[in-house]
Amino acid sequence: MTAEAGSPSILISRLLPEAAVALARSRAHVDAYDMDAAMPRAELLARLKGKQGLICVISEAIDEALLAACPDLRVVSNVAVGYNNVDVGACTRRGIVVTNTPDVLTDTTADFAWTLLMATARRLAEADRYVREGRFQQWEYMLLLGGDIHGKTLGVVGFGRIGRAMARRARGFGMRVLYQDAVAADPATERDLGAARTDLATLLRESDFVTLHTPFLPETRHLINAETLQTMKKTAYLINAARGPVVDEAARVRALKEGWIAGAGLDVFEEEPRVHPGLIGLPNVVLAPHIASASLDTRLKMATLAVENCLAVLEGKTPPTPVNPEVLKPS
Ligand code: DGY
Repeated sequence: MTAEAGSPSILISRLLPEAAVALARSRAHVDAYDMDAAMPRAELLARLKGKQGLICVISEAIDEALLAACPDLRVVSNVAVGYNNVDVGACTRRGIVVTNTPDVLTDTTADFAWTLLMATARRLAEADRYVREGRFQQWEYMLLLGGDIHGKTLGVVGFGRIGRAMARRARGFGMRVLYQDAVAADPATERDLGAARTDLATLLRESDFVTLHTPFLPETRHLINAETLQTMKKTAYLINAARGPVVDEAARVRALKEGWIAGAGLDVFEEEPRVHPGLIGLPNVVLAPHIASASLDTRLKMATLAVENCLAVLEGKTPPTPVNPEVLKPS
């Protein structure tokens, strides 16, 4: 099915699952980039001109300059839960609706953060390399000793959907769960998840695993830095599947090298796709290329939700997951 004449036009700036693109094409004129790589900025601006909708990913900077160059734009639909790549204030001032893709990726992201946590504590990447390199010549009693997970304390920084999903997983491992968030969860949720709210200093001091699930905001930049890393247990692990700049990467390299902490599991980096060279040679880190939400099912759900958000705005309806609902006109 193709869109009728007079339908709005949309730019999809990244290769997305075909079913989601087909949904967009059924109700809008779609110009879709066919590569799974960042569209060059000049091309993005040129192809976005005259279009009302943009479906984009986290590597596109949706800033004042782009908005000024594309005055017909009515909706920016980010295919991600995080939207630090979008200047939401500038969009709001221009009456442009911003949407994201929460909920559909919560469990997949938590599954992956949990995978990182387990892989880091049990030294899975090191073990894999050990076998591949032909070093497994005999069973050794003291080989690749790791940290236990069950019965330990998990500290969740940022107790939104994904942070809570981590707490739920920790229950199955008989862990004590601490969390830090500006907003307290209601008592029933705390009871259900067995989680206790505390301040960041206590969480860092008492946790065996610190897992970050806070958005990247000016106030969360380098929340974990040389000073805070030094307050963690020497036996603790740091897991980050949120946003890279929440951690001062140079300080973390020092912490890992000098034994301030035992290890780190990282899906995100301060200046992606650049990875601090100091991390590469360290045995006590497990590294991944920002893939926490990358399951087949979830990437399809995210793209479909992004298309639904975009089409809803362009059809004068309320989108399922707006970021700046104040821009929406009552329908
Ligand atoms: C998100 O959704 O914010 C992820 O980081 C990208 O999928």
